Amino acid sequence: MSEALSVSPPPAIRPYELSLPAEARAAQKTQHPRCLWLTGLSGAGKSTLANALELHLHQFGLHTFLLDGDNLRSGLCRDLGMSDACRRENIRRTAEVARLMVDAGLIVIVAAISPFRAERDTARRLFAEGDFIEVHVSTSLEVCARRDPKGLYRAAREGRIKDFTGIDSPYEAPLAAECRIDTDEVGLVDACHRLASFLCKK
Ligand code: ADX
Repeated sequence: MSEALSVSPPPAIRPYELSLPAEARAAQKTQHPRCLWLTGLSGAGKSTLANALELHLHQFGLHTFLLDGDNLRSGLCRDLGMSDACRRENIRRTAEVARLMVDAGLIVIVAAISPFRAERDTARRLFAEGDFIEVHVSTSLEVCARRDPKGLYRAAREGRIKDFTGIDSPYEAPLAAECRIDTDEVGLVDACHRLASFLCKK
């Protein structure tokens, strides 16, 4: 990541107040936009769960978008690696995009390891009270390493890749997530219903 990315905006930059309020966009979609943020280890099942949930919500006529870590890293965040600083920037960008999409009236699902508590808390502060729902996909390191769908745990253990979450890069589990799902204990359909009903209840 280049140093230039961490500078502040020039002083003349002021947010321009849009004539159409976020509430009007939400009302037109007849839904309450929110951000459902899935955090957890690689292989925990975040993307699978997020995908199933998005399909489920779509079938109920809700307007959604899924921001998946791997997808963002293929485009918007392709300049970022896996150092702590790059992950912080990755989370910051993801949160800002999620916030824009919530302002656009969408129910946004984020699926990213997002290993740092401080950055997840900063993301939360971008949203109105109750509109950021943190979901800890708490599948254990042991289970994730056993699943190892991309062979990355093995590569990390053999030293072929560095800064791998849970091996030689930290994961800070949420202390007070709104919801916690271990995909080794809860099936996909159940997990999906739990998150969907959670969204409806709030
Ligand atoms: S985050 O830590 O910055 O939030 P993110 O969710 O965007 O990570 O991307 C993680 C994805 O990159 C995982 O799906 C995994 O397949 C892949 N990956 C490649 N290298 C690593 C690594 N060193 N640590 C964790 N994930 C990695």
